[in-house]
Amino acid sequence: MEPTLKNILENPSLKWIFVGGKGGVGKTTTSSSLATLFAKSGKKTIIISTDPAHNLSDCFDQKIGGQPILIKGIDNLSAMEIDPTVDPDKLKLPTLQGFMNDQATKSLLSELISSVPGIDEAMSFAELMNSVDEMKYDLIIFDTAPTGHTLRLLNFPNIMEKGLNKLVQLRYNFQNLASQFQGLFGSQEEFDQQMNQMFSKIETMKDTVTKVNAQMKDKNKTTFIGVCIPEFLSMYETERLVQELTKFKIDIHNIVINQVLFPDDQCKMCNARAKMQKKYLDQMIDLYDDFHVVIMPLQENEVRGIDGLKQFCELLLKPKTVPQV
Ligand SMILES: Nc1ncnc2c1ncn2[C@@H]1O[C@H](COP(=O)(O)OP(=O)(O)O)[C@@H](O)[C@H]1O
Ligand SMILES: [Mg+2]
Ligand SMILES: [Zn+2]
Repeated sequence: MEPTLKNILENPSLKWIFVGGKGGVGKTTTSSSLATLFAKSGKKTIIISTDPAHNLSDCFDQKIGGQPILIKGIDNLSAMEIDPTVDPDKLKLPTLQGFMNDQATKSLLSELISSVPGIDEAMSFAELMNSVDEMKYDLIIFDTAPTGHTLRLLNFPNIMEKGLNKLVQLRYNFQNLASQFQGLFGSQEEFDQQMNQMFSKIETMKDTVTKVNAQMKDKNKTTFIGVCIPEFLSMYETERLVQELTKFKIDIHNIVINQVLFPDDQCKMCNARAKMQKKYLDQMIDLYDDFHVVIMPLQENEVRGIDGLKQFCELLLKPKTVPQV
């Protein structure tokens, strides 16, 4: 397997690319570089950070927020950073306002959120995917949070299903309450109407996450790229990611091993570390013999700004082998 990301760049059907790995290994650097390469090839590309520890702004040296913004200096490229924990007010859910008092309205939503853990996150992900889909990008690259966090999204359709079931129960409870305190609440028709709206909103969201999930399982459309450094913990996390994705039938066949030392001097420290790295590099190349394993050299300086990225992204396409030390 060629040790570069050319296979990703040259696959015309790919639409969704998720970049994952431990914090600090180079996810943002790798995903931004890949996004730069796609944009340069003429594809309308967006990079979206879902990592609570966002650093796209640093990487592109430009302020990036919750709405897509064009990157200065790279044509066809936009970026946004989204907060995966959501403000229920922003979900545009029908509330039972005018029907119940504010207290009751709040408690319906917060009951749902507190009794179905993760539903707020799943709902905001559904909204995000819908709006991104409407923006008609050719390519959407996710700079994701560390592994555990990322894997949660694979479970979103189940969570939405649980949410719907819970809503049935909540409806029953509220109906009881309403019949006990007549006058405080509006008419039965009003109640039913609002409840039905709530159901159909959650149904729609569930359809969205189910559709997204189906696209994620389509290896022609979606792939993950694991990023790691040649150290035990990072290698271990990558293997966990590979195993979990395989379990969910989601494609991963590229691994970037970043921050690899190529010592060319007599420095004892660099040579000792390069020996340690070599042990893990050899193991990974062995373990992932049916993957594209891309070795990225540690640079003298951190990779920042458009110029830094433009240089770094070329390295993703240059084959490199394990340094001999
Ligand atoms: N190959 C490399 N050589 C030198 N510095 C790097 C390299 N890859 C990443 N960095 C730097 O390491 C830091 C962490 O990288 P980043 O991509 O932000 O990691 P993550 O997004 O996984 O937390 C950044 O300052 C980045 O510029
Ligand atoms: Mg990052
Ligand atoms: Zn040295």
